[in-house]
Amino acid sequence: MAPAEPNAKAFEQKGEEPFFAEELPGWCGYVEWEKYPEKKKQAADILSKYDFPVPPEFQFEPLPKTNPVLEGVRWKYYHYAMGATLRDMPDISWKYVQKEKSPDMIHVLQFPYNGEPPRDRLVTTEITPNADHFVRNHGGIPEIDVEKFFFNVEGLVNTPKRITLKELQDESIFPRMTKTVTLQCSGTRRIEQIHEYPGDGDELINAPWGEGAIGTARWTGVSLKKVIKHCGGIKDGGKHVEFFGADSYFKKGQVYNYAVSVPMRKVKINEVMLAWEMNGEPLPKIHGYPLRVVVFGYIGARSCKWLYRVNVIGDPSLAPVQMKEYIYYSPQMGKHNVTYSNGFSIQTMPVSSAIMTPINHDQIIHDGKIKLTGWAYSGSGWPERVEVSGDGGGIWYEVPYEKMSKKYYHAWRIWEYEMPVDAEGWLEFCVRTWDDALNTQPTYVRSAWNWDLHVTSSCHRVKIYSINRTKEMTAKRLKQFEERGLSIWPITRPMPFDLETEEEYLQQMKLREGRDPEE
Ligand code: MTE
Repeated sequence: MAPAEPNAKAFEQKGEEPFFAEELPGWCGYVEWEKYPEKKKQAADILSKYDFPVPPEFQFEPLPKTNPVLEGVRWKYYHYAMGATLRDMPDISWKYVQKEKSPDMIHVLQFPYNGEPPRDRLVTTEITPNADHFVRNHGGIPEIDVEKFFFNVEGLVNTPKRITLKELQDESIFPRMTKTVTLQCSGTRRIEQIHEYPGDGDELINAPWGEGAIGTARWTGVSLKKVIKHCGGIKDGGKHVEFFGADSYFKKGQVYNYAVSVPMRKVKINEVMLAWEMNGEPLPKIHGYPLRVVVFGYIGARSCKWLYRVNVIGDPSLAPVQMKEYIYYSPQMGKHNVTYSNGFSIQTMPVSSAIMTPINHDQIIHDGKIKLTGWAYSGSGWPERVEVSGDGGGIWYEVPYEKMSKKYYHAWRIWEYEMPVDAEGWLEFCVRTWDDALNTQPTYVRSAWNWDLHVTSSCHRVKIYSINRTKEMTAKRLKQFEERGLSIWPITRPMPFDLETEEEYLQQMKLREGRDPEE
């Protein structure tokens, strides 16, 4: 599907086409909104003239089987409505998906682009290749010329500064750091919450992610603490740091630049990095080129891409992504009563895990053991023990430590395990992880369901159909299929022949004393 078609044609500009100039030469697609309230108002007035298409119903109805799964028509329209500087954002975004991402990505939302890699491949390597790393965008992808790039450090710092990438990379000014860090979107595994109980249905904010909105990279950059020190340190009252990204974000008829914040104490402990390299390469455009924030252990939303401004402030940012989104509500909060102050802000990611193979509804022939692979992560520490169960959580087996990847302070561990499976028929496999602080996962999706469908950290469950070849009758049945050159798959297809002859049936009946007791 080409991104702008056919909706580009369906879109009709209302009135004269507006023009919002790009803020800086060499920064394509960067329109500054936050500095200019008048311009913001003008954009809001334009947006108010439109009846944008309503979001598709994807919770009470099954998800489309298309790839892209959802298109994001109204998000495209928001950009078209802004005129020449933002009109091409959906096309540019799709161009970078094709250029920088694996061809078999699952495009959860075409625009703003949200995509995750195929499940089985994600856990074959401890470090996720850049092309396979999930992407979560709230808007388009600005194209920034690195020669023209700088970012400002301002607000409650003693010496506000403008810093170029060259300066940041000068090791005589800033010591460099390289860290293995996992980024996880708090929407990971959201589809499980949706399947059980639909919640808020914005196709971008509540994109229907599977288990792949997580990835691990070796990030290279500079600790933000050093950058703030270079700017003379913080002034009294500087308790939070706000980050601004050069993309445009639309919410409830207003336009913003993407902005979020983290507490200063996170910066002070060297857990916030300004990174320009991802796995030894310059950041891909789609991941924030030329410079992004990486906040260790926090929800991915705080790791602002296309960074252009670092602002030291007294309280958490009032930008919508910080104040109004990524909020964790209690289960009785919903459309009828939800207020932003009523939930808490999701920052540190809790312990969670997923089985990546087998996948739900897999039908497996085995010899008494089934191999499971998956990931385990904890934002506040590290996964210490992974346990898997073949009976929905009654009996647990520990994944041996030598079957788990290396421990890091802020990264996942991928794991595999040959689980003993004697039972046949439908079984429910599940996984739970314990982190170093003995935190573990809620048992069921319902235990932690929440209106914005965030942080599906309950034990991950997959239903599989077990066919154990070591069982006599099963082996016989499989042989019958083989001899006839037929397939047992899918199990739902009716059997074309019987397992027992009439003679065998009668013999069995005799052994079982017939169907009914004797009078
Ligand atoms: N930064 C900007 N400027 N714009 C965005 O839309 N998305 C955030 C964060 N940083 C976002 C952003 C979210 S919600 C996540 S989960 C991570 O980026 C995803 O990072 P990735 O796309 O590099 O995997």
